[in-house]
Amino acid sequence: MISLIVAVASNGAIGKQQDLLCHLPNDLKRFKAITLGHTIVMGRRTFESLPKGALPGRTNVVVTRNADASWDNTVVVNSIEEVLADSAEKELFVIGGGMLYKQTIDRADRLYITHIHHEFADADTFFPEVNYNEWIEIEREEHQADERHPYDYSFVTYQRK
Ligand SMILES: NC(=O)c1ccc[n+]([C@@H]2O[C@H](COP(=O)([O-])OP(=O)(O)OC[C@H]3O[C@@H](n4cnc5c(N)ncnc54)[C@H](OP(=O)(O)O)[C@@H]3O)[C@@H](O)[C@H]2O)c1
Repeated sequence: MISLIVAVASNGAIGKQQDLLCHLPNDLKRFKAITLGHTIVMGRRTFESLPKGALPGRTNVVVTRNADASWDNTVVVNSIEEVLADSAEKELFVIGGGMLYKQTIDRADRLYITHIHHEFADADTFFPEVNYNEWIEIEREEHQADERHPYDYSFVTYQRK
């Protein structure tokens, strides 16, 4: 099983200048609860944007074309096929960024999307277009902005039809 997990703005944006668009503590909490104990797959740029390197309690797989690359507490692979080959036995979570989502969304079984109800004009990285006719919404939680969350947001889980 292949799952994509992402926080997407209303204009499809997911990042700017190698960073996230905004800080949503409840989203980070949800991300941890969903991915803990599992295998997370990320592009090299997303890995390098993590402030403390590999995320604890998860198998961190980093995709790069650099055959000599190695980082602490990670499994490095040189192709997406190599990592997706494991998806028959376990649930793999693709955690970004834009390049990885684009190359895996057609193979994904599930999408865990945090919809951020705001448009970020200065973004430089985007989630691929989702054809919602192909997906059934199986879970939704709405949240209002508050002192720690600058925008309204929704946690939605989609399963491929
Ligand atoms: N909103 C969210 O939920 C979310 C989640 C994650 C990331 N982000 C944001 O997304 C941005 C980063 O995304 P990005 O699209 O720039 O980069 P990315 O997808 O994180 O990483 C791209 C890198 O992955 C490697 N790669 C990609 N496809 C490959 C393939 N087929 N075979 C081998 N290696 C491959 C290459 O590494 P090499 O150059 O080393 O070969 C490539 O440069 C940041 O702003 C980050 O904060 C947002």
